[in-house]
Amino acid sequence: MRGKVSIFAGLAAALAFGAPAFALPIDDLPRLVTNAGHRALIVDGAPYLMLGAQANNSSNWPAQLPMVWPAIDALGANTLEIPVSWEQVEPVEGQFDFSYVDTLIDQARAHHKRLVLLWFGTWKNNSPSYTPQWVKTDNARFPRVIDKSGDRKPSLSPMFEETLKADARAFATLMRHLKAVDSQHTVIMMQVENETGTYGSVRDYSATATKLFNGPVPEALIAARHLHPGTWTEVFGTNADEFFHAWYVSRFVDQVAAAGKAELDLPMYVNAALRDPVKYQDPVTYSSGGPTWNVLDIWKAGAPHIDIIGPDIYMPDTSSYLATLKSYDRADNPLFVPETGRGYEYGRYLYSVLGRGGIGFSPFGMDYTKEANDPAMIPPDAATRLEPFSANYHLIAPIAREWARWALDGEVWGVSEPDDRSAQSLDLGRWTATVTYGMPAFGNAGYPANFKPVPRNPQGAEGGILVARLGPDEFLVTGRMARIEFSPKPLTGKHMQFLRVEEGTFVDGKWVMHHLWNGDQTDWGLNLSTVPRILKVTLATY
Ligand code: DGJ
Repeated sequence: MRGKVSIFAGLAAALAFGAPAFALPIDDLPRLVTNAGHRALIVDGAPYLMLGAQANNSSNWPAQLPMVWPAIDALGANTLEIPVSWEQVEPVEGQFDFSYVDTLIDQARAHHKRLVLLWFGTWKNNSPSYTPQWVKTDNARFPRVIDKSGDRKPSLSPMFEETLKADARAFATLMRHLKAVDSQHTVIMMQVENETGTYGSVRDYSATATKLFNGPVPEALIAARHLHPGTWTEVFGTNADEFFHAWYVSRFVDQVAAAGKAELDLPMYVNAALRDPVKYQDPVTYSSGGPTWNVLDIWKAGAPHIDIIGPDIYMPDTSSYLATLKSYDRADNPLFVPETGRGYEYGRYLYSVLGRGGIGFSPFGMDYTKEANDPAMIPPDAATRLEPFSANYHLIAPIAREWARWALDGEVWGVSEPDDRSAQSLDLGRWTATVTYGMPAFGNAGYPANFKPVPRNPQGAEGGILVARLGPDEFLVTGRMARIEFSPKPLTGKHMQFLRVEEGTFVDGKWVMHHLWNGDQTDWGLNLSTVPRILKVTLATY
């Protein structure tokens, strides 16, 4: 049986006896697993950390791919997220052309990269712009959302069977094709639609939709959320319009995903255009019905075939970014950031995502196609644009498999430099770690004579630290532009001493020491700079 039972049994046994986990056949399907609330994406039978990068929207053509791979290679990403659009695979109804998909998979293998395919179908940033012309031009068969005033919005309505049937058939045909051509699972995960929902109308106000809106909330939602039955307005009050739309969009997407999984059971996720995580926003001003933080419970009930809801984070300030990570990191939702801004200041948040046990991270617009949809963020020199993502990916790549395994065991920590550069504290059980930014290699504020804080990189904050437990007093530490210091817990008058600080790396799963750190390298805490360094630290008290 390929099912989850054998996987979990294998995992439990391996964790119990310290043996290597997941003795699965190499050709087994990628999947998500959970261990006591901690998650991993399993690829080739072992936990996989997705150091991702998403190509630009119009890079999904063979002619564009030569400008995509060099950026992905230079970044050190292990996974490319790239669209497969409905218009390109089914330009004529019922006639499919997967030549682009085949080219893409061949090239990914040649570049030793995995793929996440983004199904641009009924929704792409709320609109049907990537549907075939035979869909776009037939509003009678594929109705659009009607707003309160009776006007048509760009968005297709989720209420209509023909739209669902056509989209689900195309997606299922794609998955059947993948099953035929991708036995080695170069494609590890699928995104179903892109930033669903509707801008400019909270729901579909067509006669068909309104009739359902005036009826009872479906039993499945009532049961899933333990609600008292009633009409949408009776059950959800002022949220009724938005929750109604979210339910029908989620049901639509779930059925597309289910049709695809019936052909090939890969992990599937949706990405979310965000509602402000802190300030109130009227749903008419964001993509209403999409999986914004306030409707995650509706989506979880409506779309059980969707394994992950991932936030597309384009808010570089620390409080918005961290609030968003917190709201999408739930017991029923593994943390995965399928898109984030490509500006310099976004790179540091990889540390926060990994510290929460996230399964992956992927900046958007990472290719050399020179698409100018975001001109302010594209410095002339393409290599510069990849910083600091590339620096972080190159730092972490050698330990990516190990990190994913430690995250599944639940003993990882990570923080990124906050906008105000304040110090952060990590609770490591018997130890507390303090992470500070702007510290020079020597000294601290307590010794002002030789203390000269390092100014922040004018391009933006870039610091971050990762810690994983290797033993009761032994930790793996890495990071960038940050200092980490340790103190024993509780503070019983004892002091911390480094027993041993090794710099090295993992090779084929085994730690290989390069040299020891001591003296100036440890007297003022462990200072990580822009030079990639991985440390194995053993602590003791005196
Ligand atoms: C979020 C969308 O999901 C992407 O496809 C893209 O449109 C970016 N926004 C902005 O460039």
